Formats: sequence, structure tokens, C-alpha cells
Amino acid sequence: MVGIVLISGSVRADSANAAVLRAVADQLTAASGLGSTVSVATAPIDVPLFDEDVEAVGWPAPVQGLREVVAAADALIISTPEYNGSMPGGLKNALDWLSRPHGASLLEGKLVATLSASPSPYGGKWAQDHLRHVLGVCSARLINAEELVVGRVFDARNDAGDIVDPETLASLGRLADEVAAACLAEASNAPARC
Ligand SMILES: Cc1cc2nc3c(=O)[nH]c(=O)nc-3n(C[C@H](O)[C@H](O)[C@H](O)COP(=O)(O)O)c2cc1C
Repeated sequence: MVGIVLISGSVRADSANAAVLRAVADQLTAASGLGSTVSVATAPIDVPLFDEDVEAVGWPAPVQGLREVVAAADALIISTPEYNGSMPGGLKNALDWLSRPHGASLLEGKLVATLSASPSPYGGKWAQDHLRHVLGVCSARLINAEELVVGRVFDARNDAGDIVDPETLASLGRLADEVAAACLAEASNAPARC
């Protein structure tokens, strides 16, 4: 079984970033080379503010929960909104927790695909640039060489908030295929993982 974990940089109930992740997940399970061997989970990032003093006495329960989900994942797919030209503080905070403890980061070597979505035509590109920079510093392995930027995302959704625009769905499907290919390649190198 291949475990994929979705992380939305927005905790908003009607998040467009959560919507694009749902669409990627649908296509991962429906059309990718992974077939029925894929399981998809969502990792909640609404955890306390990172604090080395708190870390020293033990992971807070929400952090422990986040860490367990991410540790078990073969690959992460992170979709970020853009807040004031960067990723939301909550997403950066979650990545900081996941990067610990020093020397045993959960992000080191982790396969990660990134995308961003925004109502603006620029699609949160700056936020995704910063996300990928941080993931690089944390020695994660980026799956998609090209950023997937979903601009004017509200125009791609239906009344229920789901992504229905065919072009957007096609882009998300290509990302799903890249994630599947990365996991399958990993599996052929190390059968115990993907
Ligand atoms: C504090 C704040 C700052 C924002 N700054 C930007 C920005 O720099 N660029 C952008 O494209 N959208 C910006 N937005 C708009 C977000 O892209 C928009 O709220 C989007 O829907 C958030 O993603 P979500 O739907 O997944 O929650 C900002 C929104 C907030 C709340």
C-alpha cells in the first residue's frame, strides 16, 4: 500500500487549496498507476506555535498526531495559499515542527509534491517559491520539477466548492501522475517503502 498525505496550507472550511488537493486525490485513486494500492490521508496543521521549550518536554498532542501521519507517508502533497506574498504562518509552523528533532527531521528525504492556489491570476506563486525553498532547506525531495500554480481558482470551482474546470483538472491529474510515478520508482528501489 502506498500512503499519500495531503497538507493544505489553509485551515479554512471552504479552502480552495483543500479543493485542489481533493481533486488531485481523486485522480490519484482513479487514474494513476497506483490503482487500488493507494491510501490517502489528510494531515491537520492547526497545531501550537513551535517553541523549543515545549519541544524539550515532549510533543504536544496535536503535533504528535501530525507527526505520526507524516511519518507514515510515502509522499506528501502540499498545496499552499499565499498570504502577503508568502506561505501562511501556520504552514511554516507545521513544517518547523516536522523538521525536528535536529538530525532526525521527518522531512529529510521525504518525497513532496507542491502546488499553490489563489483567486489571483498569479496563483500564489511566491508562496510556493517560499514553500519549495523551505522544503529544500529541510532536504525533502521535490517530486514536481515545475511548480503547479492554480490561478483564478474560484473560477475553476462549482457551487459546492469542488474543482470542475477541465483544464485545471487536467493539470491536477498530471501532478497525480507525477506523484504516482515517484512512488512507483521509489518502490522499485526500496520495496519496503512505496
Ligand atoms: C492575510 C491574507 C493575505 C493574503 N495575501 C494574498 C497574496 O499575497 N496573494 C494572493 O494571491 N492572495 C492573497 N490572499 C487571498 C488568498 O489567496 C485567498 O484568501 C485564498 O482563498 C486563500 O486560500 P484558501 O481558499 O485555500 O483558504 C490573502 C488572504 C489573506 C487572508
